[in-house]
Amino acid sequence: MAIFAAMEVFDRLTQLIAEIESAPAPTPEAVEAFRIRYLGSKNVLKPLMGEIRTIPNERKPEFGQLVNRAKEVAQRRYDDLLTATKNGEQSQQASDLDLTAPAEPLPLGSRHPIALTMRRIVSIFERIGFTVAEGPEIEDDWHNFSAMNTPEDHPARDMQDTFYVSAGMPTGPDHTAMLLRTHTSSVQARTMETQKPPIRIIAPGRVYRNETISARSHAQFHQVEGLYIAERVSFADMKATLLHFARAMYGPETKIRLRPSYFPFTEPSAEMDIWWGLETEHDHRITKGTGWLEIMGCGMVDPQVLTNCGIDPERYSGYAFGMGIERQAMLLYNIQDIRLMFENDVRFLRQFASVL
Ligand code: DAH
Repeated sequence: MAIFAAMEVFDRLTQLIAEIESAPAPTPEAVEAFRIRYLGSKNVLKPLMGEIRTIPNERKPEFGQLVNRAKEVAQRRYDDLLTATKNGEQSQQASDLDLTAPAEPLPLGSRHPIALTMRRIVSIFERIGFTVAEGPEIEDDWHNFSAMNTPEDHPARDMQDTFYVSAGMPTGPDHTAMLLRTHTSSVQARTMETQKPPIRIIAPGRVYRNETISARSHAQFHQVEGLYIAERVSFADMKATLLHFARAMYGPETKIRLRPSYFPFTEPSAEMDIWWGLETEHDHRITKGTGWLEIMGCGMVDPQVLTNCGIDPERYSGYAFGMGIERQAMLLYNIQDIRLMFENDVRFLRQFASVL
């Protein structure tokens, strides 16, 4: 009888191990039930262990091993079930995602109206063979003034207009006084010193003048400079190029006029106006009742400037022009106050988000 009972205990244990190994537990509750049944303080293995009394001595070690095995298997299975249900929860959470839901609106940046206008001007000239040139914003007297044939006593050199960086006299015989460039014309001088004709460059950049800040003028602004030097370049070449620019920029019907003017670095010099019209009150105001808007200064590069920069004026001639960017941005985008362009107010900047 005892032998029979002992054999039954062996069978029962083996059966339990099989049961443990295949126990399904798809939910956290089932895993907990498994723990209580096989590993809890009142687990099903305990009463079987008590049966060791009934096992014949020679089989006791075998029985002990089997009990230990049952415990191990239960613990391992429990660990596995636990991780399996945790992963299951995660994949459940993952499948809760609605991939068709509209995305969070990401705030997109926008280009600054000055950059937009600058790019537009530059690309018009790039398409007809000009390449972009650059120079420093902190410039020396030579490149900003002297090389550009600006006399020592010219009012533009006055402390009132120019921000000088170096201490002392604004000008000296060595032309080394440092300043914030007052125009991009300084890039003309730098380019002519380092390149041989033909030269065909466009130089966009920031310039500085000690001016009172108002709705119409600022102490920092931007210009685009142009320079073309080759053999037998004429005033007519300049006029054709500038007409092409005006039409690409303001529409194919745009009319221009060149008014005689004066710049130290060009001879003859002119200012170019575009016909804006007089349709609205606003047109009257911005053209001072004339219908014409001044867009840029230009002229044939003064032979003295060529000589200053190491180019033979007997062999080469050329034209140059310079224009402000802010004013054109204000025209293009109907901006009433130049100061808006330097305040970085996102309510203003956001309005250019769709402009390419
Ligand atoms: N540098 C001039 C200014 O700041 C603009 C200018 C006029 C540039 C005539 C030129 C030019 O290259 O030929 O107002």
